[in-house]
Amino acid sequence: MENYKVKDIALADNGNKKIAWAESRMPVLMHLKEKYQNSKPLTGMRIAGCLHVTKETAVLVKTLKAAGAEISWSGCNPLSTQDDVAAALAAQDLSIYAWHGQSVEDFYWCIDKTLELKPMLTLDDGADLIFRVHSKKTELAKDMLGGTEETTTGVHRLRAMAEAGKLLYPVMAVNDAETKWDFDNVYGTGQSSIDGIVRATSILLAGKNFVVAGFGHCGRGCAMRARGMGARVIVTEVDPIAALKATLEGFEVMPMDKAAKIGDIFITATGVKDVIIARHFKDMRDGAVVCNTGHYDCELNLKDLYGLSGSVQEIRANNEACTLKNGNRVYLLAKGRLVNLAAAEGHPSEVMDMSFANQFLAMLFMAKNGKNLTNEVHTVSKEQDQEIASIKLKTMGISIDTLTPEQIAYIKDYTAGT
Ligand SMILES: NC(=O)c1ccc[n+]([C@@H]2O[C@H](COP(=O)([O-])OP(=O)(O)OC[C@H]3O[C@@H](n4cnc5c(N)ncnc54)[C@H](O)[C@@H]3O)[C@@H](O)[C@H]2O)c1
Repeated sequence: MENYKVKDIALADNGNKKIAWAESRMPVLMHLKEKYQNSKPLTGMRIAGCLHVTKETAVLVKTLKAAGAEISWSGCNPLSTQDDVAAALAAQDLSIYAWHGQSVEDFYWCIDKTLELKPMLTLDDGADLIFRVHSKKTELAKDMLGGTEETTTGVHRLRAMAEAGKLLYPVMAVNDAETKWDFDNVYGTGQSSIDGIVRATSILLAGKNFVVAGFGHCGRGCAMRARGMGARVIVTEVDPIAALKATLEGFEVMPMDKAAKIGDIFITATGVKDVIIARHFKDMRDGAVVCNTGHYDCELNLKDLYGLSGSVQEIRANNEACTLKNGNRVYLLAKGRLVNLAAAEGHPSEVMDMSFANQFLAMLFMAKNGKNLTNEVHTVSKEQDQEIASIKLKTMGISIDTLTPEQIAYIKDYTAGT
């Protein structure tokens, strides 16, 4: 019986070429694969994963398999699966349930198929898989050693579950590792979100008013890269410290009510719902482009946008012209789903190298130590972060200085002063 469902298995060759390209740019993960493929520390481990099916994810899946794990996988977003990559994994006898353009019912059907493996470890991006275990498949929780979580929104959900005393097994917040959050979310989201906007619109960024909602990790990356392409960047925020940081970085900061009137391009990166709602859409200039790069599609209120629209027409891939009843057109990209994954390919391999090295090491850790951990959200160790950064630097041909014994003594010596 087939242990997969993908769009078209004949796309496997193309998927394999993409995966080979990613492998050539993910030296840290490839190093870990080589290191563990003989000792196979994940032998006997059954892992269910729910994470965007991209070429980089395929490298992670293959690395987990090489380390001995049995795996079943689904995508974590209805629009982010790369069908050729999914086909390539299926053709390699990996159990995978994912295709681009799923309904919400399909999405959960795929997750449920992966849970037939009776996993001992879960790997999430957004916490939909682990939440499924906790809400609909609770009988599976007793045999779980642990889980990992890839993104900010997923970590928020899991912390909320832990605080409510509802978390049934321990989870590692991979997102919060420095070598993940400060790189993937910033440089990865910055570059790939611009890539998504450009692919969906072919718009010139130079000279445009580019509004970024949220100046956290992802928002900072988007703001930085849009400025680099000549846009005038405006930031909206709810946190005074983040707003201050944006101001001192030289960005203009204002409330969305004001930005809505002058923006040409809007991107949300907050992890919070209803950041752009009816009154903002109504105030937008004719031709405004709106998109989201936060995990869920609730940051733009699409019910409001479609409700205000007299007509909606897909004018090119991932670009819908919503003609409002006031005559203005608002162009919605990728149906409000993460624009970098739905309209482009997600983050470049080089940055996913560190994120997925963290995922891989966190899986090894959970397999070994999960049963001794409390049912809380745990953080990646400083040692793991340092190890990944060191290997990455080495593969980039960059060497750094080392503290001398005298310097180490100086740091610890509180008597040394003026
Ligand atoms: N597109 C991708 O590939 C990708 C990659 C990583 C993370 N994410 C997702 O992006 C989102 C943001 O992640 P992050 O790591 O940047 O989080 P973060 O916590 O670093 O930043 C979020 C920022 O948004 C601000 N904010 C919250 N509500 C707001 C509102 N109503 N208006 C304006 N600003 C508001 C917060 O104050 C904060 O500064 C999350 O949903 C995360 O899961 C997406």
